[in-house]
Amino acid sequence: MGVDAIRFVDGALELIDQRVLPHEETWIRCTNATETADAIRDMVVRGAPAIGITAAYGYALEVMAGGDRAAAHEVLYAARPTAVNLRWALEELAEVPTDALLDAAKRMHAEDIAINQAMGGHGAALLPKGAQLYHHCNTGALATGGWGTALGIVRSAAAADPSVHVWVGETRPYLQGARLTAWELLQEGIDCTLVADSVAATLMAAGKVDAVLVGCDRVAANGDVANKVGTLMLAVLAKRYDVPVYVGMPMSTLDTRCPTGADIPIEERDASEVRGHRGVEWAADVPVYNPAFDVTPAELIAGWVTENGLWWPPGHARS
Ligand code: MRU
Repeated sequence: MGVDAIRFVDGALELIDQRVLPHEETWIRCTNATETADAIRDMVVRGAPAIGITAAYGYALEVMAGGDRAAAHEVLYAARPTAVNLRWALEELAEVPTDALLDAAKRMHAEDIAINQAMGGHGAALLPKGAQLYHHCNTGALATGGWGTALGIVRSAAAADPSVHVWVGETRPYLQGARLTAWELLQEGIDCTLVADSVAATLMAAGKVDAVLVGCDRVAANGDVANKVGTLMLAVLAKRYDVPVYVGMPMSTLDTRCPTGADIPIEERDASEVRGHRGVEWAADVPVYNPAFDVTPAELIAGWVTENGLWWPPGHARS
C-alpha cells in the first residue's frame, strides 16, 4: 500500500508529519476536533481525500467524548476551504449514531483505498507502453487513505509495465512533488526524475511527455478542476503540445453544488511559503500573492478518471 499517512492507534488519530518529510518521520497525535483541524490547517496532513478522512476521525473523536456535533463540524469544516472532501466527509457522518462513528470513519478510510485502486486500473489502461508521465503535486498514499489518485494511476501502470517513467514536478511553493512524490516513488521503485516546474515546457516541446497526471480538490459540475496551483499552467502547455491531461477524480470530489470553477473557493496561504521554506528565507520582505490552488477549465482536460471509469461533464465532447 506504500507509506501510511493516517492511522488510529490506542484511541487517538495519528498523522505522519508531512511538513518534515522526507528527512524526518514523526507522528502527530490528535485526540479531538480542534487538534485535528489544526493538523489539517498546518499541513501535517494534506491532499483532498486524506484531509476528508482525517476530519472524519477528528469528528468521531470529538463526538464520542461528548463534544457538540455542530461545533466539531464547524471547526473541521473551516480548516481548509478548497477541497470538497472535508464537507463531503462531515456530511456523511452527520446522521451516524455516536457509537457507530469510529467504524464509519474507518470504513471511509478503507473504501478510499479501494476507490483509488479501481481508479488506478482505469487510468493505467489509457497509457501507452513505456509511458513518460508528468505528475504535479502529491496525490499518492500520503494524500489519500493509501495508494493514491493520479499517483495511484502511476502505480497501477508501473505494476503492469516497469518501463513507465515519471517526471516529478517539484510543485512550488510548498514542494509537495520534490519532498513527497519523489520520496513515495523511490520507495515504490518506480523510475522517476525530479524537475523544476519550469522544465515542463522543455520536456513537452521535446516530445518527452505522453500524459500529464494530476489530482483534484474539487471538480465543478461542468468539469472545471480546482487543483494545486500550477495545474492550469501545465494544462495550457499540454494543449499547445497535444499532450493529454488526465485527472484522478474520486466521485466524492465532484461538487454538483458548484456549477463552474468560478464558484470554487480558492485558499490563499501565508507569504512565508513563497519567501522561503522551513525557516530559510531567500526573498526580501516583499508583498506575496500565494493562492494554493487554481482552476483548469474542462476544455483543457482529456479525461476525468474515477473509480467507475471515465466521467464526462454534461455536454463535453468525449475524446
Ligand atoms: O495543498 P495540498 O498539498 O493539500 O494540495 C494537494 C493537491 O492539490 C492534490 O493534487 C489534490 O488534493 C489531490 S490529492 C489525491
